[in-house]
Amino acid sequence: MAQRSETQVCTECGAATPRWMGRCPACGAWGSLRSVARTVGRDAREPDAAPRTVAASELLATPPVERLPTGVGELDRVLGGGLVAGSAVLVGGEPGIGKSTLLLQAADRVAAGAPVLYATAEESLEQLARRARRVGVAGPGLRLLAETDLEPLVAAVRRERPRLLVVDSVQTVRDGALGTPAGTVAQVRRVAGELIELGRQGTTTTLLVGHVTKDGALAGPKTLEHLVDTVLSFEGDDRGAQRVVRCTKNRFGAVDELGVFEMTGHGLVEAQDVSARLLAGRARGAAGSAVAAVREGRRTLLVELQALTVGSATVVPRRTVVGLEPARAALVAAVLERWGGLALAGTDVFVAAVGGVRVGDPGADLGAAVAIASAHAGRAAPADTAWVGELGLCGDLRSVPGLEARAAEAGRLGFSRCVVPAEPGERVRGGGGGGVELVRVSRLGEALALLGG
Ligand code: TYD
Ligand code: MG
Repeated sequence: MAQRSETQVCTECGAATPRWMGRCPACGAWGSLRSVARTVGRDAREPDAAPRTVAASELLATPPVERLPTGVGELDRVLGGGLVAGSAVLVGGEPGIGKSTLLLQAADRVAAGAPVLYATAEESLEQLARRARRVGVAGPGLRLLAETDLEPLVAAVRRERPRLLVVDSVQTVRDGALGTPAGTVAQVRRVAGELIELGRQGTTTTLLVGHVTKDGALAGPKTLEHLVDTVLSFEGDDRGAQRVVRCTKNRFGAVDELGVFEMTGHGLVEAQDVSARLLAGRARGAAGSAVAAVREGRRTLLVELQALTVGSATVVPRRTVVGLEPARAALVAAVLERWGGLALAGTDVFVAAVGGVRVGDPGADLGAAVAIASAHAGRAAPADTAWVGELGLCGDLRSVPGLEARAAEAGRLGFSRCVVPAEPGERVRGGGGGGVELVRVSRLGEALALLGG
């Protein structure tokens, strides 16, 4: 057996020295050396005791994950093709947004081919039945349970062995053994941890509902995000019927994919033509409105961006955004000021994406710039033109992925022009994209010139 010996490691800088000293010879810190067992070199651990490594080729040979499609197309799209067997999904959203409705509908679809257990800890079975009637639940294979205690819930899952378990919500189930009320961080973690582990053992997919507080935090559930495989967030504007499901974490697929629904009198229906819906009621011909062709996940959308500029009463003028990244909007305003010749120093700028979508795509920069410039000039942008491009700090326009798809979507919705960044060697066909004319511009100034004046 190899001899175990000790070495001295500095807790400040991590330097190792063979013997103890009062002061670290590397960083000069006093009293920072601690003795640790040597792990490398002549006295390293027994080779047999070392953990085994795995050949990458062995792992690559393992079969791809098994997916359980929910049958709700927009939800499957966001999940990357369906639920993964044995995985855990957290569905967050504000109260009343439609989480229970969506999951009941998905549970019913899955239940047509596999046993499903929908456990509610918030409502009575009568309330659940009322919703089920409303959304037209078919029933076969779908079992319901109203239970707020973890132990009986776990017992029911063990007995019924569902392929899918919905727990609505993780904040209202409680483990009596902890002695604390439901919804505390400790309870939420305990409940989720137990159910997720149970699911993994029995290859039950677990869908956990988590309510988001008004300030946008998944209170309690936020602490669950690292425990689950997938995090979905359910959003929408309170008044409108549109609901968007977004994936913010996915161990089994891409994030950023959007699922779009409409809340109707009979539950959620998958949105058919999202761009057309977003543009319905557009402020056509109004100063401050511009249409951007954006990409969210693999989806191309036309979004109306509206801007307003007004004299500022504050020392630092405001840059306020709704549905866009605040940092990008501030950047667009600054570039407009420096390179677009707009005097925005004493001006408050408001920019909003209309229709309750949240746009994260830098390709929306040019649309935002045109909306602001149009608002500031009090002159409408051409109504038949869609705008695409990322703004550089030097006033340049940068290309973004999916130009063809964006132009095609604009063409489909009847736009006759799509302004896109010009790039040497780019392969956008003139007149392509369904009859839409592509206008290539390389600088912000060229794009603003198209506003006329
Ligand atoms: P719900 O799914 O209960 O929301 P959550 O679980 O996120 O709290 O949805 C509640 C809202 O949806 C409520 O205001 C009623 C409305 N709704 C409809 O408009 N149509 C329907 O078919 C259903 C079931 C609900
Ligand atoms: Mg609910």
